[in-house]
Amino acid sequence: MKLAPSLLAADFGRLYEQAHAVESMVDRFHWDVMDGHLVPNLTFGPPVVNALRRQLRRPFDIHLMIEHPAFYVPRFDVRSGDTITFHVESKDNGECVIEAIGQTPARPGVSLCPSTPLDLLTPYLDEISLILVMSVEPGFGGQAFLPAALERIRELRARIAHRPIEIAVDGGIHTGNIAEVVAAGADVIVAGSAIFGFPDPGVGVRALREAVA
Ligand code: DX5
Ligand code: ZN
Repeated sequence: MKLAPSLLAADFGRLYEQAHAVESMVDRFHWDVMDGHLVPNLTFGPPVVNALRRQLRRPFDIHLMIEHPAFYVPRFDVRSGDTITFHVESKDNGECVIEAIGQTPARPGVSLCPSTPLDLLTPYLDEISLILVMSVEPGFGGQAFLPAALERIRELRARIAHRPIEIAVDGGIHTGNIAEVVAAGADVIVAGSAIFGFPDPGVGVRALREAVA
C-alpha cells in the first residue's frame, strides 16, 4: 500500500513544515486543487503547488477538482513520477485533458464522484495510469467514508485486471477502515485528517501503516 497524505488537512501556514515532517515516511503528496465551481470550496493553485514542488522530493499527485483542467494543466511544474488527475465531471473533453497532461512529464489520472457510473472511465482505460475513487463527495476534508466505495473499488479492480493502472482511494480513510479499503483493492491511500489531525503528523502515518500490517 502506498500512502499519500492530503495537504488539504495540513496547517496552510506551515505547509512545507508539515509535509517535510512526514516526507520520509510516505510515498507521495496529494494536493487538492479546487476552483469553487466544480466543488463548493477554494484551496490553492499552481503558484502554491509549484513552490512546494521545488521544496519536496516525493512525487506529487495533483487532484484537480476544477471545471477547466485543460487550461490549468500546463501551469503546474510537474516532474516525472508526478500524476495529474482530473474529474470526469469537469467541463473539458477528457481526451483534451489527457493530451494536455501528455505534454507534461506527469502521468494522467482520472477521478470520479461517488455517484458517477464507473462506465464513464471506459474510454480512458488505455491512456491513464491512475484512477482516483472518491469515497466522499469532493470539496472538503474530514467527511465520513461512504461504504459504497468498497464495492466500487472491487468492481474497478476486476475491470482493470492486467492493466497498469493504480487505484487510489480518497476521503474519510482512518485507522478503522483503511484495512478494508486496501483489501478491496486500493493501491494508494489518500488521507488528510487521519494524518494532519495529529499535532505530530508522523503519529498519524504510523497508526495508518500499523492498521494495515
Ligand atoms: C476531498 C479531497 C480529499 C480529502 C481527504 O475533496 O479530495 O483529498 O481532503 O481528506 P480526509 O482524509 O480528511 O477525508
Ligand atoms: Zn483529493
